[in-house]
Amino acid sequence: MTRKYSNIFKSIIGGVRVRVRHRPQLVTLTRRETHTSTTMFSANHSAYTPSPTVVLNDGTSMPTLIYGSGTALRDKDASHAISSAIQVGYRHIDCAQMYKNEQSVGRGISLSGVPRDELYITTKILPVPEGSSVVATLRDSLAKMGLGYVDMCLIHEPVGHRDLVRTWREVMGCKEAGLCRSIGVSNFRVEDLELLKSNYTDLPTVNQIEYNPYLYEANKRLLEYLAECNIVTVSYCGLAPITRVSNGPLDTVLPQIAQRVSESAGETVTPGQVLQLWLRRQGLPYVSTTWKPERLKEYLRVATLPDLTDEEERLISERGSTVHHRFFVRSYTKP
Ligand SMILES: NC(=O)c1ccc[n+]([C@@H]2O[C@H](COP(=O)([O-])OP(=O)(O)OC[C@H]3O[C@@H](n4cnc5c(N)ncnc54)[C@H](OP(=O)(O)O)[C@@H]3O)[C@@H](O)[C@H]2O)c1
Repeated sequence: MTRKYSNIFKSIIGGVRVRVRHRPQLVTLTRRETHTSTTMFSANHSAYTPSPTVVLNDGTSMPTLIYGSGTALRDKDASHAISSAIQVGYRHIDCAQMYKNEQSVGRGISLSGVPRDELYITTKILPVPEGSSVVATLRDSLAKMGLGYVDMCLIHEPVGHRDLVRTWREVMGCKEAGLCRSIGVSNFRVEDLELLKSNYTDLPTVNQIEYNPYLYEANKRLLEYLAECNIVTVSYCGLAPITRVSNGPLDTVLPQIAQRVSESAGETVTPGQVLQLWLRRQGLPYVSTTWKPERLKEYLRVATLPDLTDEEERLISERGSTVHHRFFVRSYTKP
């Protein structure tokens, strides 16, 4: 299956649009334009548009390379970072009420010069205060961002809601009101999804979760469950083995694999890109963040790199499984 994915990916680089059933999510990958390194940071937004996408269970498509406005950008003026990310080629921006930077994110979107309908904006909602509603808080977020709608609205966490089933109903109401095109969740466990499933037939399209090789074992059952429900897993914190953990079991493995892929690709490939290739091999979209233009380019280049081999993928998963590191929402997502 993974070899099949690799072959298909090569045909995408040639500009061909394909659909492939992959573990068992249906992934559609497209590539609209040819990359040239000289134009990557051009203000001409159409110069480089890598657009691998995944088809969601509601029939819509979502770009799989996602630039996050949280972590390093949280509570900060994110306008320049967001406009740079869009101008360099990112088309999917991950936002949240929790990041307290919605106004500057909106400015960044506007500054980028890229038409709204070419972008995919995700936001995540917090538990609503007494007397308010999800629709009201989403309207407020849209006003802050200067947007008429978001493409994806997620419940940020399953905890803190007076009634999670009711919150999901209200999120469905946001879609009915045209405030968002798709709806999903984040940091949900199997039991949280089972609760929604026992009340509604409209399931989330995605579950955005902390996922990297150091959570491979802990999240195995959840990923299987999500695939069975045709809910797309989106990874955040995918780079933790290099950004957050020192002296980990992948410290020697990732550079070795990076060297092998570099030789095959004819360009320098970094350990961070290897981690993203590991996620891509599993068919998973992922969110990452950086302030640095060079890293933005590095991460977008992943779309054009060859796949990891079966053995490399397995080695990363196996070595990753020898430890357990979780950095977000620890209180309720322990294995
Ligand atoms: N749903 C949730 O609950 C949730 C939770 C957390 C995050 N998120 C989303 O996921 C996004 C990404 O979050 P993350 O925590 O996974 O961040 P990340 O992509 O790991 O980036 C965090 C920092 O790591 C640095 N970095 C990136 N690549 C590196 C490399 N190769 N070597 C050394 N440092 C590197 C970057 O610093 P520089 O700026 O110096 O490059 C960046 O600021 C967030 O922005 C947010 O949108 C969602």
